[in-house]
Order: sequence, then C-alpha cells, then structure tokens
Amino acid sequence: MNTQLTIRHSSRLHGTLTVPGDKSISHRALILGSLARGQNRVRGWLAAGDTLATLGAIRSLGIDVQRRGNDLTFRGGTLSRSLGHVNCMNAGTAMRLLVGLLAGQPFETTLDGSDQLRKRPMRRVVDPLRAMGANITETEGRAPMTIRPAPLVGMEHRLKVASAQVKSAILLAGLQAQGTTTVIEPGPGRDHTERMLAAMGANITVNGTFVTVDSGEVSLAPLELTIPGDLSSAAFLIVAATLLPGSTIQIDGVGLNPTRTGLLDALRRMGADISIEATSEEAGEPVGTLRICGSGLRGTEVGGAEVVRAIDELPILAVAATQADGDTVIRDAAELRVKEVDRIGMLAQELRKLGAEIEEQDDGMIVHGPTKLHGAQVNSHGDHRLGMALAVAGLVAEGETCVEDADSIGDSFPGFAESLAKLGAEIG
Ligand code: S3P
Repeated sequence: MNTQLTIRHSSRLHGTLTVPGDKSISHRALILGSLARGQNRVRGWLAAGDTLATLGAIRSLGIDVQRRGNDLTFRGGTLSRSLGHVNCMNAGTAMRLLVGLLAGQPFETTLDGSDQLRKRPMRRVVDPLRAMGANITETEGRAPMTIRPAPLVGMEHRLKVASAQVKSAILLAGLQAQGTTTVIEPGPGRDHTERMLAAMGANITVNGTFVTVDSGEVSLAPLELTIPGDLSSAAFLIVAATLLPGSTIQIDGVGLNPTRTGLLDALRRMGADISIEATSEEAGEPVGTLRICGSGLRGTEVGGAEVVRAIDELPILAVAATQADGDTVIRDAAELRVKEVDRIGMLAQELRKLGAEIEEQDDGMIVHGPTKLHGAQVNSHGDHRLGMALAVAGLVAEGETCVEDADSIGDSFPGFAESLAKLGAEIG
C-alpha cells in the first residue's frame, strides 16, 4: 500500500489531547508479561504496526492474549512451541527482544521480518547471547535468525553500542540463565525493561550504568499497568506547536521517563516554550502533562548522552532546526544510519526537497537556519518517523506538501493526521 498524506501550510494549533501508548513499553508489556506467573492486565496498549507484530509473535508462542481495543489481558508463564516462524514485520524492538526471550526456551523458532528489518544489524544482539551459550544462526549478521534450545549461563557484558534493545535482550536471556548477568552501558540508555522488571519483582539491581539480573527462584508477578502516552509520538505535535506562531496545545498523560526526554531539553535550550508537569507514576514510569506555546528558536548543539535520550526524536529536531536562528549541530548520532532507514541520509535528502539547508556528517548533520520551506512531494521511504517529521515540515512550508508512502506512520502513531487535524492543522 502506498498512501499519501497532503499537508497545507497551517496557522496556529490549539487544543488538548492525548497520544497513543508508548511503543517501547507496549512491546515490553507483552514480552515481559509472557514470563509472568498469573494474569496480566495492560491498559492503554499501543495498537500500531510494530506492536501488533509483537502481539502476533507472543500469540504464536502459545500465550492467549485477549485484546479489547487498547486493553490486553493474558496469562503469562509457559511459552510453547511456536508455529516455528515468527514475522516481526518492521519492528526492530520486537525482533531484538524476542531473540533474548527465545534464547532460553526449549523449542526452535525462526524470527524474520520485512525487507526493511532484514537489512538491520543483528550481530550486536546475537554475539552477547552466544557468549551466554545461546544457539542462534543468523543470515550474515541479519534476519532471518533461528534460535534453538541451549543452556544459558550468566555473564558480564560491556555494550559496544548504546542500545536499549540489546541491553533488554541480554537481560531477558539473563532471567533464564544460570547465575548472574550484568550489562554495562556506555551511558544511561532507556530503562523501561529495568523499571518493568523491578515492578514485577525480579531480582534486578541498577547501579549507575551497571544493570544486574539474577534468575534465582523468583517468579515474576503479573503486570497491572496503564501505559503512558508515547513521548516519541508527542514529539511531532510538540515541534509543530512550537513552529506555528500563536499555538497553545496541551498533551496529557505522556510518559516522562528521564532517559527519553532529551528532545525537551534540546528544544528548551533553543528557546521553546514548554512546561512539564509530572502528575503520576505507572509501573515505575513518570507520567505528566506538557503545555507548548509557539515560539522562536535559536540553533544549538546536540551530542553525547543527550543523543541517546533523544535518538528517535532527532529527525523532528532537525525539522525544528530548519526554523531556528543559526546552525544546529547534531553529532555522535551514527546510530541513526541503522534505524528503519538511514535517517541521516534520507532525512537530509527529503528535507532539501522542501528547501532546507542540511549538511550531512558521518555521525549527524548540520542544519542551517532559518530557511523558508516550500511545499513539495517527499517520501517517508517506509520510515514512520521520517514520514511524520516531513509532515510537520509541511505544516510550516508555503503551499502544499505531499508525503508519499505515508502508511508507514501507522507503525507507531495511528491517528497522527487526525490528531494534528484536531488541533487545527490542514492535513489529510
Ligand atoms: C528502543 C530502543 C532504541 C530506539 C527504538 C526503541 C527500545 O533503539 O531507537 O525506537 O524500545 O528499546 P536502540 O536500542 O537500537 O538504541
């Protein structure tokens, strides 16, 4: 399917809304919940392309998940022989976490995915799991991968790349291994797995960048959880409201995990008018309300630890930077090249069609601002975040912008266009 999204230059946005559930937490609720002893109850689950792939996978592993809209109920405990073949579609998080889960299971499974997912690097997850004893065959470091039963032993791993997916896969294997497993991160990465495991009563300790799990005799308690709204989806609305003068919007019930809030820090440094109010906590995750008013921006530098805390938001940050006074430098972000697509090369290529001035770097980009954008025909290249970033650029651009291959947006943010339209944007 190749759907198109048409966006016209819009004036101010106004209104209050929520965004769909957090994608990272939705994947984890299914995967970690499948190991829990008892009935899991999950509300606010994200029903999107990527997480539906995880739902299909968990069901094919013998877990009877009942779904009513965004609510899931399912009894975890014992996984059973799968259909032998699990399709993770475009979902890198599903595939990488499932390898860790399946490494400790007494049956054989093959994990595969779309052509897009088959291009993504898997050695980063396979190598540490093999060191624990896992029996995995891959296809030149990529999917398809076959995981066969093997006894696992805990060990200490120092991550080469800052990746929460790899960390989570090792922790999942560690829960099923003999002894203790420790992951040492290069810096603080997203920690939803740790928070959820702690809430489930696992033997997990976090000490700075050291995360340790002990399989022990502890059985995991089932989840009773309402998933907060996804800050990575809210990011597109936040930048849209910031860039359209006179806007005032409010987003309720958003996850505010500090390992995810790099975009808010960078935008505020650029002069954005964003107020953040934490209101509650869900399974160890802070949740709150964001209020955003339109404002002018100035260029900034984003690198180091902040990049890890904003990795999925860098495409939309680049769109914000096209409207900022002066240069914005994004560095230390080479990981962007191995996301759904090469998010440095493809973003620069597509934003240039709208008139942006972007210099590509090996590990990031320099965005020269401010530039007057003009409507054009652009393409998401099958990448949800690229599609949404281009749509927001289209709201700012003069005239009409057409984003092709826009169905990819449904991988993480179903109702994206409707949410913007509700706030007054001309999109459809
Ligand atoms: C995710 C981790 C990040 C992020 C991805 C979701 C997760 O990837 O980009 O969208 O849920 O663990 P890496 O682990 O590759 O950094």
